Amino acid sequence: MSDVPPRSLEDWDAAHLWHPLTQHESFRHGSLPLLVVGGRHSHVFTRDGRTLLDAVSGLWCVNVGYGRKELADAGAQQLYELAYYPLTMSHPRAIELAAKLASYLPQTPHVFFSNSGSEANEVAFKIVRQYWAQRGKPHKVKIISRARGYHGNTLGALAATGQSERRRDYGPLPPGFIHATAPYCYRCPFALSYPACGLQCAEDVRRRIEIEGPDTVAAVIVEPITAGGGVIVPPTDYLQRLAAIVKEYDVKLIIDEVVTGFGRVGRMFGYELFGVRPDVVTLAKGLASGYVPVAATAVSDDIFDAFLGDADSGRHFRHISTFGGHPVAAAVALANIAVIETEALVARSETQGQKLLAWLREAVADLPMVGEVRGHGLFVGIEIVDGSDAKRPASNRVMQAIQRYALARGVIVGKTTDVEIERNNVLILAPPLIITDSEMEQVVEVVRESLVATDSTPGSAGQSP
Ligand SMILES: Cc1ncc(COP(=O)(O)O)c(C=O)c1O
Repeated sequence: MSDVPPRSLEDWDAAHLWHPLTQHESFRHGSLPLLVVGGRHSHVFTRDGRTLLDAVSGLWCVNVGYGRKELADAGAQQLYELAYYPLTMSHPRAIELAAKLASYLPQTPHVFFSNSGSEANEVAFKIVRQYWAQRGKPHKVKIISRARGYHGNTLGALAATGQSERRRDYGPLPPGFIHATAPYCYRCPFALSYPACGLQCAEDVRRRIEIEGPDTVAAVIVEPITAGGGVIVPPTDYLQRLAAIVKEYDVKLIIDEVVTGFGRVGRMFGYELFGVRPDVVTLAKGLASGYVPVAATAVSDDIFDAFLGDADSGRHFRHISTFGGHPVAAAVALANIAVIETEALVARSETQGQKLLAWLREAVADLPMVGEVRGHGLFVGIEIVDGSDAKRPASNRVMQAIQRYALARGVIVGKTTDVEIERNNVLILAPPLIITDSEMEQVVEVVRESLVATDSTPGSAGQSP
């Protein structure tokens, strides 16, 4: 490869690399994606020599920041010591990681490893179905999720995903997945206001269970804070109400912590914000801060016990993943959690997050195009509208223009994509948990500038893209 002129990387990219969520037609007109070649702390470096502040941590996953030698060393050492062994047998790093996770998840102390958030959720669905079958209720198979929720790219996880644009054209999706409404107060699906609403969004889950028949419902899956659907923070008592409803009908509660886990929202796990007891917890992204692919599904004693029996009973979990619990992934995840612990990054996410939210709210308070700034910890959504009482969502073109402007000013900001047609109007900030005050000031300044520059609401000085 070394005799090939490095300039051709861009050509190869355009010719051969199919990118996710990307319209490749634009490549033909010279608009290539950022080519990132390195990273340190909260910054990434591009091939054309720019240093960018990554206010989205890659895909909301590089929680400990880039360039951590401890993680690289742990991976390298494990590669040499034992590069691979499957978990049909056992190896030390997977045992240690399972025990570490169990120490943080006392209600779900049994851990099954896989490789991505989608897979962790597929595992969760298969486990709850087999659980009910082995508890003598084989008809309890349906999974209830919520509008705007995202649970992954595989067909089952996509069926659970409540994003119409993301699901379009991939059907028929597996049956047995039902969607309830989102706890989306800014755009309440019932046109009510909290708390007078009586948490109709949680009660909607009850209605779905009753309509379907409780004897047919296996589990409800929720993100504690809906991530890719628009950083939707539910009312504080919503999840407790939902957990009580689920328990009343003998349905399992799966908490998808793929984004919210490992300090992202100011707690080790997002569900801790709301004081509920999950039956199943799914983990990925921040588990190894994106340094290696690793995911996990953690379950309660009650669920695990339903899989016990004689060797020939067939009650074991009949599922395998070649790479699940890979020794290198487990070693890096352990090193990652050690960094989170040593540097108290969960507490830091909470305090830095409070500042970021307050500074952003202050900085954009006079901009009618900002409908709402919401979030928890270092996970923030900024809902962009047309400035009218109707709260019409900003168009995809406006959202892309905001992102482009911020990028030109040195800050990578994220946004909702392919959730619902022309309702992808939430900017997303999820910086590494190590972000400093001055870096956050830069983010706030650039976000404001980008909004002002692209503001097309009547009477504004900005330019419509
Ligand atoms: C809440 C949630 N669950 C699951 C997934 C799927 O994870 P992966 O992309 O690792 O399959 C994602 C991905 O963004 C997610 O946001």
